Amino acid sequence: MESSELKEIIQGIPKAELHLHIEGSFEPELMFEIAKRNNIDLAYDSIESIKKAYKFNNLQEFLDIYYTGAQVLIHEQDFFDLTWAYLTKVHSQNVVHVEIFFDPQTHTDRGVGFDVVINGIHKALEKGKQELNISYKLIMSYLRHLSEEAAFSTLESSLPFKDWIDGVGLDSSEMGNPPSKFVNVFKASANHGYQLVAHAGEEGPSDYIWEALDLLKVVRIDHGNRCLDDEALVQRLLEQNIPLTLCPLSNVELKVIQKMEDHPVRKMLDKGILATIHSDDPAYFGGYMNENYYETAKALDLDKNQLMQLAINGFEASWLSTEAKEKHISEVKEYFNS
Ligand code: ADE
Ligand code: ZN
Repeated sequence: MESSELKEIIQGIPKAELHLHIEGSFEPELMFEIAKRNNIDLAYDSIESIKKAYKFNNLQEFLDIYYTGAQVLIHEQDFFDLTWAYLTKVHSQNVVHVEIFFDPQTHTDRGVGFDVVINGIHKALEKGKQELNISYKLIMSYLRHLSEEAAFSTLESSLPFKDWIDGVGLDSSEMGNPPSKFVNVFKASANHGYQLVAHAGEEGPSDYIWEALDLLKVVRIDHGNRCLDDEALVQRLLEQNIPLTLCPLSNVELKVIQKMEDHPVRKMLDKGILATIHSDDPAYFGGYMNENYYETAKALDLDKNQLMQLAINGFEASWLSTEAKEKHISEVKEYFNS
């Protein structure tokens, strides 16, 4: 397929984004603007120098820069602007449903109130629903390099806003911070009615995916790249139809894989795994949903059926109602069959 034809097809697909850290959508231009109005000195003197710094050898090198960037966010308006910028961007890419992460501890540990963070994000999500027709879910992610006790206190802070939060996740430095460290707080989160997901098998081994499933009892795995190392795990994912929310550009940028041609998503689709494609931290990894679809399709030579399957999987793996899933999936099918 010609590049331009592929891009046009991808642009028109109605898409669901299920793996997106809102702090990772912080574009340098907006970072500069918010730093200026908050009187914060950035360590960079231009947008170009920020972009130049975005070269990572692993997850930790990225996280260090990502947490530094997030320090600019202080007021409710900042969180609103961040989220609104993301929504308008993905609206232009025909994303019609989002399930986004936020990292409360990145902000509350700096003295920014939980209410400030969530009010800004929630207002933008509501505006996106009204004005852009983008439905949404919100996922509060615990930082795994911090203690389980700290996660418990975040859970406590979230309770007044429970109706705005659909699930909890687990992100940040994976190696050495296995899912088993968070068994109690995940159990407590489920008791409060939150759905459960966790990053696992991004840099960490397939054992961490087993732990996320068996100990944390998650309904989706974020990343899960390493599952193909373990045939019994593949069988488990298939039996329970557990979704994997993959992020191909992130994987290349963080050296989880050497090159896009090595990405496991095609093999996963061949095995019938409910694999989906998302952008993770688009401002840092060079692309939003369309660019992730495009680079993956180009490198792995995906055909229209595989693209359709990925888009269907995105809705299938979402937390939308059965009716909403069916509606979106039939729209995807109609798009490809017309
Ligand atoms: N936080 C933001 N992006 C992340 C990723 N790719 N892995 C773990 N934690 C993250
Ligand atoms: Zn992620």
